[in-house]
Amino acid sequence: MAQVPIVAFASSKGGSGKTTSCILVAGEIAARGERVLILDTDPQQSAVKWFERCRAANRLPERIEVVSCLGEAALAERLKALPDDGFVLIDVQGILSPVMAIVAARAHVVAVPSRASQLDLEEALPFVQYTAHFRSSGVQVFLNEVEGIARTTQVFKDAVAYLQNNKIPYFRTIIQQRPKFRAITNDKGMLATLDANPESVRKARANVAALTAEILDLLSLPPQQPAPAPTGEGVAEPDTRETALAAEAV
Ligand SMILES: Nc1ncnc2c1ncn2[C@@H]1O[C@H](COP(=O)(O)OP(=O)(O)OP(=O)(O)O)[C@@H](O)[C@H]1O
Ligand SMILES: [Mg+2]
Repeated sequence: MAQVPIVAFASSKGGSGKTTSCILVAGEIAARGERVLILDTDPQQSAVKWFERCRAANRLPERIEVVSCLGEAALAERLKALPDDGFVLIDVQGILSPVMAIVAARAHVVAVPSRASQLDLEEALPFVQYTAHFRSSGVQVFLNEVEGIARTTQVFKDAVAYLQNNKIPYFRTIIQQRPKFRAITNDKGMLATLDANPESVRKARANVAALTAEILDLLSLPPQQPAPAPTGEGVAEPDTRETALAAEAV
């Protein structure tokens, strides 16, 4: 891809995990040695504040830069002056807005976090449909904040069935509910440098690595093509990459 890849974390639902997933995926990409520029377009400035907390805690993540980018004029200007290499991630406010329209038009991938409930996915559907005004592919939902045991429940199965019945494109990786993810978005920088219980960090990282791998897969495709069916091999462990997602819906 000639231009620096742009990945947005967006939805019209507040509190669905946009900032959290943006920060986590940024950390995973940075851990692979790439530079990541996060554009914080949300007036809440959650990503900017996270970066400042990390700085104050002396845990500034390497190779990640967060800049504030408020309003459509500022975003349009910033998108004209992107770095030549690395990745650009965009954190977006949970509303449909002129900024969101620019993001929907310019991002190569729009990752849409949603909790695994029909109520939440019913909000994700019109958002995905809205982005279809600007593009025909590269917008995918992922289920976020899923508790380990939740996957056996009818609510979860109904949520997956809802995705499938409404033909909403989705990532096969499910981001689990993990205290480590909250720690990172507090002031701990990135998972790769977290000096905590190695096993829980390893599992958390594998979970994020699986989502990141799917995003990178999507970026490597020529525009307008659907994503390939994920194989579930090589990027994470079976317990973190939910290759059985489709099967679980039946
Ligand atoms: N996978 C997860 N595991 C644990 N906690 C999570 C996870 N995802 C999100 N959270 C928590 O849920 C809350 C909302 O997450 P976050 O701020 O990322 O959502 P958001 O979509 O950016 O919200 P907003 O619409 O306000 O910008 C936060 O307290 C965050 O720590
Ligand atoms: Mg946010």
